[in-house]
Amino acid sequence: MNIAAALKEATSLLKDNTPRARFEAELLLAYHLGVDRVYLARRDDEEVDDIEGYFALIRRRAQSEPYEYIVNKVSFYDIELYVDNRVLIPRPETELLIDEVSKIIAQNSIKNIAEIGVGSGAISIVLARAFPKLKVVATDISGDALEVATLNREKFALEERIELVNADLLGGVEGVFDMIVSNPPYIANDFNLESNVVDFEPHGALFGGKVGHELLKDIIIQSKDKNVRFLACEMGYDQKDIIEQIFIQIGVKYHRFYKDLAGFDRGFIVQFKE
Ligand SMILES: C[S@@+](CC[C@H](N)C(=O)[O-])C[C@H]1O[C@@H](n2cnc3c(N)ncnc32)[C@H](O)[C@@H]1O
Repeated sequence: MNIAAALKEATSLLKDNTPRARFEAELLLAYHLGVDRVYLARRDDEEVDDIEGYFALIRRRAQSEPYEYIVNKVSFYDIELYVDNRVLIPRPETELLIDEVSKIIAQNSIKNIAEIGVGSGAISIVLARAFPKLKVVATDISGDALEVATLNREKFALEERIELVNADLLGGVEGVFDMIVSNPPYIANDFNLESNVVDFEPHGALFGGKVGHELLKDIIIQSKDKNVRFLACEMGYDQKDIIEQIFIQIGVKYHRFYKDLAGFDRGFIVQFKE
């Protein structure tokens, strides 16, 4: 089968699953052939090698598997990370958390941070690359996620500056940190997620408990107990009021919520002490 016919058939197989069926058919063909997408232009008549292999990828996508898991990569901030179904696919909104955290690191000359729930390593790796003097201790309760984070840490040669620890939040982690950063699971267990998310991404990375903010609350309390200056977290768009109540109950020096590009509340920065 030639490129034109393969793309036509693949687009038709994908059309019910994605609004960008033709584009994804092209991306997956380029991935399959090991070429750039532009290579496909004006090569309609060229035969596709291993056409069955190509349609195997298309069938996975047609069954809602995220594109990023099929090609084992995701673009995030200024890097490309390895991902598979052991980790959450880093989301564009988490780039905003990085921007917020970066401002605080720069303004306060922060040298030591901890990340809770490192997943693929996205947040810790971007921050470590941006701040060459920064040391990071990053935890995850999932051994599977830590294996992926280890691959990505190696890809960017950050073994010396990012320590990966298998822990429940910061349980058993020694050390003094200026700041804690986290994008924890914050979705309520019974929330109806789309099939491409709930059927493929690890539930331990998505669901935070019965009401959703359970882990966020634990992180806020542990961070205060650890005597850190700053905590920055991503959260759900509807969790601002409940999180604000926690701040009032435990007493914090300063807090601020930030919004995502769609105007939804998406995270917070809290300062516990001077
Ligand atoms: C929403 S994902 C975030 C992953 C990554 N930091 C990112 O932003 O793409 C949450 C991560 O927290 C981890 N996690 C869940 N509960 C945890 C806990 N109690 N302690 C540490 N990590 C936890 C999950 O395994 C998952 O990797």
